Amino acid sequence: MYKYLIAGNWKMNKTSAEAKDLAAELVDEIGAQAEVNVAICPPLTALGSLASTLDGSTIALGAQNMHPEPSGAYTGEVSASMLRELFAKYVILGHSERREYFKESNEFINKKVHAALEASLRPILCVGESQAERDAGKTFDVIKKQLSEGLAGVAIQKADKVIIAYEPIWAIGTGKTATPEMAQEVHTHIRELLAGMYKESVARKISIIYGGSMNAQNAKSLLEQKDIDGGLIGGASLKARDFAKIVNIAVELSRPLSESMLESAN
Ligand code: PGA
Repeated sequence: MYKYLIAGNWKMNKTSAEAKDLAAELVDEIGAQAEVNVAICPPLTALGSLASTLDGSTIALGAQNMHPEPSGAYTGEVSASMLRELFAKYVILGHSERREYFKESNEFINKKVHAALEASLRPILCVGESQAERDAGKTFDVIKKQLSEGLAGVAIQKADKVIIAYEPIWAIGTGKTATPEMAQEVHTHIRELLAGMYKESVARKISIIYGGSMNAQNAKSLLEQKDIDGGLIGGASLKARDFAKIVNIAVELSRPLSESMLESAN
């Protein structure tokens, strides 16, 4: 079994100074556990200064966006190599907020996926349906389009470097989480689509994480699902204690049964 990924998407929250405080708290809470992959994606202004704060911990850094071109006249944008220079390991791409507010298309997101992989950044490609699309029974169609167009041209050798985040738009920041069964159903579907695009053994290696109002209360029931390989956490990642609780739940679920039984017996 591969490791869970628990990633915090801080969105446009925390100044550099505040980000340093939160990262330091996370280092205290989470430390250097190695059972679960943990990442935080702060605003760009904080990215550069957090590597030293996280030094000695196993918490990795990620960015929330990037431009596909390596350099050039793109006012206000940053490239993959600029993120790498700041020690980012992951980059969130195609978040529904970027799709909606900044009109990012699947084609544009696909270019970013390629540029990220080229720069050895691990893309976290977000897909997910709106409430209206779900109500109209279009969830699987929407996901299929986002996935096939978002991953177009990504070679099989690189496919398992991509992380897919299933984020139903109606669950983001609303406190309305998908039930574990609902999420599992879509995750299985994503895994099947990936198996069709690549092959089954590759699809099994691609992490599919869930995002949308995941918190310390509902994380266990979601992470327990067979095809849910982690979480992309917004609101609950802004409080060190809450985020650490989710990480700890993933750590517990990663342990072989006998070990956790032994611990609870003590
Ligand atoms: P949320 O955000 O946890 O606040 O719903 C998740 C996300 O947008 O990645």
